[in-house]
Amino acid sequence: MAYGLLNGKRGLIFGALDEQSIAWKVALQAKAEGARFTLSNAPVAMRMGKIQELGEQCNAEVIPADATNEEDLKALLERSVELLGGPLDFVLHSIGMSPNVRKGREYTNLKYDWFQKTLDISALSFHKVMQTAMDMDALAEHGSVVGLSYIAAQRTFPSYNDMAEAKSMLESIARSFGYHYGKKRKVRVNTISQSPTITTAGSGIDGFDIFFEFANRMSPLGNAPAEDCSGLCMFLFSDLSRSVTMQNLYNDGGFSAVGVSEEVMDLMGEAIQARKKGSAEPA
Ligand SMILES: NC(=O)c1ccc[n+]([C@@H]2O[C@H](COP(=O)([O-])OP(=O)(O)OC[C@H]3O[C@@H](n4cnc5c(N)ncnc54)[C@H](O)[C@@H]3O)[C@@H](O)[C@H]2O)c1
Repeated sequence: MAYGLLNGKRGLIFGALDEQSIAWKVALQAKAEGARFTLSNAPVAMRMGKIQELGEQCNAEVIPADATNEEDLKALLERSVELLGGPLDFVLHSIGMSPNVRKGREYTNLKYDWFQKTLDISALSFHKVMQTAMDMDALAEHGSVVGLSYIAAQRTFPSYNDMAEAKSMLESIARSFGYHYGKKRKVRVNTISQSPTITTAGSGIDGFDIFFEFANRMSPLGNAPAEDCSGLCMFLFSDLSRSVTMQNLYNDGGFSAVGVSEEVMDLMGEAIQARKKGSAEPA
């Protein structure tokens, strides 16, 4: 069901690769809510992904840009403002990648040039998008910028690797830039900390299926699907959240507030029973 929350709004959505991408769902819902926007992704994703299909569905121009490259970002923002006929009301940064994760390097054996790449793609690019936009005055007053995070920014999930540092930095940038952009143009900057979600980036994490299941059993509402993340984005892009800024909002079915759930206790009970049974058996 659509509410016309984004009627007349202009936007830019980064990071839709295929139908599973969180940004893909956000684009479809933003279209249904009445927004007009451009779509962007890294040049390599243009070849690998299906973003052109999404562009056709949303009647949105697809503009390639490497989000770590300031020249690309400037050209993307210029073109978006020109095409949409004015400054942007919302931006979604749905970008993440770690070469260390992708190539299976453990956290205690990182390649540092890859670590820097992780930070550049997954966190600094958030700053670069906003700094470029501020410099060009490409965002409208009361605009809204949203980045996507994960609870590994606050707590350790060993296989999340150097992406944990990237998410901590992303959330910190939201607070710091949110202060300056709020003062200057009343632009709001927030992050959404999303449940594990089955996407290309998500599934690249070692043991993802296990911690997907663990989080699902820990959360009273179960894992939040990408569609619910998209719903929260609609709220954050809309005028309903005009005074919400510099926040990290958990869209996680309650995971972040739970110590342990009955389901996980039951599983541990079964493990103890199995261990007792094993030790009772003759060697
Ligand atoms: N999937 C999850 O479990 C989960 C949970 C919490 C947060 N997130 C975050 O959500 C965001 C979106 O990820 P997703 O799960 O939809 O996966 P996804 O793989 O569909 O999206 C990641 C996107 O980042 C893009 N990207 C990578 N390098 C880029 C660059 N240099 N310039 C521009 N774009 C680049 C990719 O092309 C891709 O479209 C990421 O920030 C991710 O960390 C995901």
